[in-house]
Amino acid sequence: MKIGILGTGDVGKALGKGFITLGHEVKMGSRDAANEKALAWVREMGPKASAGTFAEAAEYGEIVVLATLGAANKSVLSYTGPEPLRGKVVIDTTNPLDFSGGRPKLAAMKDGSGGEQVQRLLPDAHVVKAFNTVGNAHMFRPDFPGGPPDMFICGNDAEAKKKVAEILTDFGWGTVDTGGIDSSHYLEAMCIVWVEYGIRTSTWNHAFKLLRK
Ligand SMILES: NC(=O)c1ccc[n+]([C@@H]2O[C@H](COP(=O)([O-])OP(=O)(O)OC[C@H]3O[C@@H](n4cnc5c(N)ncnc54)[C@H](OP(=O)(O)O)[C@@H]3O)[C@@H](O)[C@H]2O)c1
Repeated sequence: MKIGILGTGDVGKALGKGFITLGHEVKMGSRDAANEKALAWVREMGPKASAGTFAEAAEYGEIVVLATLGAANKSVLSYTGPEPLRGKVVIDTTNPLDFSGGRPKLAAMKDGSGGEQVQRLLPDAHVVKAFNTVGNAHMFRPDFPGGPPDMFICGNDAEAKKKVAEILTDFGWGTVDTGGIDSSHYLEAMCIVWVEYGIRTSTWNHAFKLLRK
């Protein structure tokens, strides 16, 4: 499958590497088609990887991953416009964070969560929030003594969530569906729980799991 990744940060690189390891082809998008981080990542990944603009990566992907600075999502999606993403699954990994106080907090959003904002900007895409509640080092093939962790996801389209759950299985995760895209509000807050625990313990090797019986 062809995967478009919007974002040249650690998340874009980690997920892109995961998709390539699984045999997919990945185009990493940036504001600048000659972004040095993207080009270095392509050199490292080999022939299944390519780089381009945000718009080119959005056009290329059968599935598209949004992995950009949460506060910049509106700007990023103004580079693509909604059209190339129409009808596609868009995996939203982002968190709307406010770093002004030194440690990240959830940014105050006027109109709901970051996930809802992305869905509003892409009304004809199937946005699924996923991968936002764990550090990038554990996104692909997480290896924890307690077994595979769970990724909490949400989105309005059942088929899109099924597709993302299949990807999560391939990446080594269980999936917990928490409802419509409005549940992003809670999943974005879970990111802060993950970060606060990391700061308190100075460890970054943790992930969530839902226990059931
Ligand atoms: N880091 C983690 O382990 C982790 C874990 C879970 C979730 N997340 C979330 O995942 C997202 C990506 O995180 P990250 O650490 O990989 O990368 P990041 O540093 O948060 O974002 C980098 C990307 O944002 C784009 N960007 C920054 N400012 C922009 C602006 N003003 N206009 C347009 N684009 C802009 C950059 O574009 P260029 O390529 O053009 O420079 C780049 O592609 C974030 O929302 C983060 O909260 C991160």
